Amino acid sequence: MPNAGNSVKIAGLGKYLPEKILTNRDLEKLVDTSDEWITTRTGIEERHIVDNKPASFLGAKAAELALKRAGIKPNDLDLIITATITPDCRFPSTSCFIQKAIGAKDAAVFDVGAACSGFIYAMTVAQAMVGGGFYKNALVIGSEVLTSITDWTDRSTCVLFGDGAGAAVVVPVKSGHGLLGFHLGGDGNLGDLLMLPAGGSLMPASRETVDKKLHTIKMQGNELFRIAVRVMVECAEKALSKSGLTSSDVDLLVPHQANLRIINAVSKRLNLPKEKVFINLHKYGNTSSASIPIGLCESYEQGLLKKDKIILLDSFGGGLVWGSMAIRWI
Ligand code: ACO
Repeated sequence: MPNAGNSVKIAGLGKYLPEKILTNRDLEKLVDTSDEWITTRTGIEERHIVDNKPASFLGAKAAELALKRAGIKPNDLDLIITATITPDCRFPSTSCFIQKAIGAKDAAVFDVGAACSGFIYAMTVAQAMVGGGFYKNALVIGSEVLTSITDWTDRSTCVLFGDGAGAAVVVPVKSGHGLLGFHLGGDGNLGDLLMLPAGGSLMPASRETVDKKLHTIKMQGNELFRIAVRVMVECAEKALSKSGLTSSDVDLLVPHQANLRIINAVSKRLNLPKEKVFINLHKYGNTSSASIPIGLCESYEQGLLKKDKIILLDSFGGGLVWGSMAIRWI
């Protein structure tokens, strides 16, 4: 039996955002919308979009930066876990493409599917594998090309999403530091509220599914909004409680960036003032599984992740699935 019982910490963070920017004004030319509507209803001002590149391209770029900052060579990587709803292919997994791109020759590789909560789910797997002593390190990535599954004629969704990737290198650390505790949850009964209907075994791709635009995101935003606020608060409280903490211990909340009004409502209910809440969705929109690792990476770059600070991650997305995690930074 390997050395079980270690905790894990994040030893390096990376991100990658494609250069090209699509502003709200650009979207005004595509659909019947306005900069004013998008900004006031969502908080989004612009988003980055790729030019014909897959999720693995973005993920590999973020991974290379995270590895450099962690001081770990790709060949020394044990495990790669990628969270994505926009994989390069049905198979091989996007982690396999990233492994090839960064040259991580002997790593174990697989993807996790938990929509916008994917990064937190993947981190809990890394914790079990690395903290359990089965692997000495892990690279956890959230990478999305959401513009590849966007219906550019649907104003209720096309204004929301952007492309991007974030990555974290996970290594063991003495317990009481690093990842303290988490809570995961889901409700498959509510799956219809946010899904990509076709292209799987449920509804294989056909001329009809393409004509009906069933390979793009379908979302009942209004309904999701109400559930998101309630569930993100409950989930965060459970993760904090499992970590022996309350929201008054939190130094920084890095929430999933779907809608500024959701983030504001959640932080208000958790009694967290604005200066303790990390927000970047005005620049990137909703990047699904990439939003939390990009947020964490930018928190690091802005000097917000100081030793012993309590960082709370909180997410919600299609499935429905939600997850929250408390970290004592080290
Ligand atoms: N521009 C102008 N008007 C619009 C637009 C737009 N881009 N989109 C919708 N509208 C209109 C609607 O047609 C509607 O008009 P009507 O009243 O004449 O029928 C009106 O605006 C209000 O629409 P709502 O859907 O009620 O608007 P709401 O305030 O709820 O905002 C939004 C919509 C932004 C989608 C919000 O509901 C939301 O953010 N929901 C949560 C999304 C979420 O968290 N998803 C999960 C994570 S995403 C993931 O997992 C990939």
